[in-house]
Amino acid sequence: MKNISEEKGFKKIYEGKAKMLYEYGGDEKKLITYFKDDATAFNGQKKGTIANKGEYNNSISVSLFKLLKNNGIESHFIEKLSEREMLVYNLKMLPVEFVVRNYTAGSLAKKMGVEEGVKLISPVLELYFKSDELGDPMINETYVKAFDMGEIKDVEEAENIALKINGVLKDFFDKNGLLLVDYKLEFGIFNGRILLADEITPDTMRLWDKLTLEKVDKDRFRRDLGGVEEAYKRIYDITSNI
Ligand code: ADP
Ligand code: TMP
Repeated sequence: MKNISEEKGFKKIYEGKAKMLYEYGGDEKKLITYFKDDATAFNGQKKGTIANKGEYNNSISVSLFKLLKNNGIESHFIEKLSEREMLVYNLKMLPVEFVVRNYTAGSLAKKMGVEEGVKLISPVLELYFKSDELGDPMINETYVKAFDMGEIKDVEEAENIALKINGVLKDFFDKNGLLLVDYKLEFGIFNGRILLADEITPDTMRLWDKLTLEKVDKDRFRRDLGGVEEAYKRIYDITSNI
């Protein structure tokens, strides 16, 4: 499959750390997301590439968006266009990252002074302001209102969807031998509706092997653990059957 955006000469409108966005011809309601092999951590301070990550992450996201749709959760996903590209609705994004956690890890373990891997009595939901310059500071709903980041009702709906997604993803990964430790989601508005957007991949989720507790996600890159591509391939293989 060739890259549609290059083949058709569509205009690149944004290049981020992991993806590029292209216009979809003259259709302003749609965009192409192109998944790169580039990997960054710590707000871009650590940079590298992970072989084939773009193909793995595009495929994993497509499969998980389909799984969620089958469970009544709508997203920006329209169709897979090529190995690294999907067609999505062009959303007005909320400048907020929604993180849901089932076990302590990463910044939560550090903040609370506990070891990683402690099962939480109930899920933790956190909001972060999406800003590389500021290092994505943690915020709450009062910030959303005070700094005019969006409508409270939209943020509340996104929070509810983020928690509903937890049930679907936890079950799916559990059946495939993995613990869903935590994940980050982004949402946007399309025709007045809140939709799940961006990606759901090992870049944005922590997944641990249920038996060995081995990490099968971007922490292998963040922490120089080796076996990075193999970890992404494992999630790609599991999700290919959806
Ligand atoms: P970053 O911008 O954080 O470096 P990426 O490299 O993943 O991240 O770039 C993708 C960008 O596209 C993100 O900023 C994300 O908020 C945005 N985005 C994701 N889905 C959509 C969508 N459906 N409509 C508009 N923007 C989107
Ligand atoms: P954290 O423990 O570093 O706060 O990360 C929580 C989850 O969010 C983890 O699954 C990784 C994901 N994440 C992102 O997708 N983007 C980010 O910029 C950060 C900091 C975390």
